[in-house]
Amino acid sequence: MLTDKFGRPMHDLRISVTDRCNFRCPYCMPAEIYGEAYEFLPREDILTFEELTRLVGIFAELGIGKLRITGGEPLLRNDLPQLLNMLTDIPGIDDLTLTTNGYLLSQFAQQLKSAGLNRITISLDSLDDEVFKAMNGRGFTTERVLASIQKASEVGLSPIKINCVVQKNVNDHTIVDLARHFKGTGHIVRYIEYMDVGNKNGWKSEHVVSAEEIISRIDAEMPLEPTESNYQGEVATRYRYKDGSGEIGVIASVTKPFCGDCTRVRLSTDGKVFTCLFASEGASLMAPIRGGATDNYLRELITSIWSSRSDRYSEERAALPNEPGAPRKIEMYQIGG
Ligand code: GTP
Ligand code: 5AD
Ligand code: SF4
Ligand code: SF4
Repeated sequence: MLTDKFGRPMHDLRISVTDRCNFRCPYCMPAEIYGEAYEFLPREDILTFEELTRLVGIFAELGIGKLRITGGEPLLRNDLPQLLNMLTDIPGIDDLTLTTNGYLLSQFAQQLKSAGLNRITISLDSLDDEVFKAMNGRGFTTERVLASIQKASEVGLSPIKINCVVQKNVNDHTIVDLARHFKGTGHIVRYIEYMDVGNKNGWKSEHVVSAEEIISRIDAEMPLEPTESNYQGEVATRYRYKDGSGEIGVIASVTKPFCGDCTRVRLSTDGKVFTCLFASEGASLMAPIRGGATDNYLRELITSIWSSRSDRYSEERAALPNEPGAPRKIEMYQIGG
């Protein structure tokens, strides 16, 4: 089995299929930086479906069993269902999922399901329209996202997970409402501690609401108890409602980092492999693939990248400088979270 320097296997592959997004969440793509004139990757610098399928085949041979499609906003990639169709035929891939902001999902949900997508994760930071409008940076209300969740449920893309990034004094007063809304629906809300990904969101530790605090606020109104994880390396810590009406999760990557179990590898839109969400450099697979590399060469390249991996950024965070001058990191929209 392929393992890294700390004995961690390579199991989940996250693929960013576009660096574009129709939202401008200030914690990811602040509108004042990513304006109309911002130049995203040109088409020729984006991995094609054939290239992606070939690479996933090689990753699967090396131990990848779980694939997550991300962006930017993955539904902005043309013909995405066709890519999913190609990926589902690859032996060894037993979980194919996708993370979306939900804005375009209603129209695509059935096609995605038919193409072989198993389940879906939809981001929704608040049910309060004023809060949500500010957090998506585009003034969109929650209406379309809620309709998408409904549609995803109807076509069977379940279990549906709802991701909520929690920022102090931005949306933390609305987290209990979000939990209440989805309690009893079978959908799983997961609260993510606001992280210092990228270089442009002005992250400060005082903007973080800890997972412990999130749980205690929800538990005070709707009693919770911890429950075991679904699989080793699950980033969310699970809690279930004591009355049996479902579960929620918290992703405590700031206050309780989970690098020790991190089995995730990421492929950026332009074909670079990143061994950590907080890496500054990725190794290009596009260059060798377009230079005529054989499968064997690519297999050895990926093997050498993973075997020399020693990333544990979140565990080291406390000791690192986070103010301007800190090393430049990959942006979330290039790598999909
Ligand atoms: P399941 O497969 O449903 O368990 O989901 P997942 O574990 O793949 O979670 P998902 O992709 O929805 O991750 C939710 C969020 O957690 C991401 O968008 C990130 O914000 C954060 N996250 C996921 N993986 C990592 C990681 O390896 N490191 C850190 N620091 N954060 C992560
Ligand atoms: N901290 C935590 N989560 C983030 N996401 C994007 N940026 C951040 C951040 N700085 C989340 C998105 C989405 C997922 C892909 O990552 O809201 O749910
Ligand atoms: Fe788009 Fe997701 Fe980034 Fe928001 S967090 S700007 S929806 S990629
Ligand atoms: Fe994995 Fe890096 Fe996240 Fe740690 S900080 S869990 S090594 S992606």
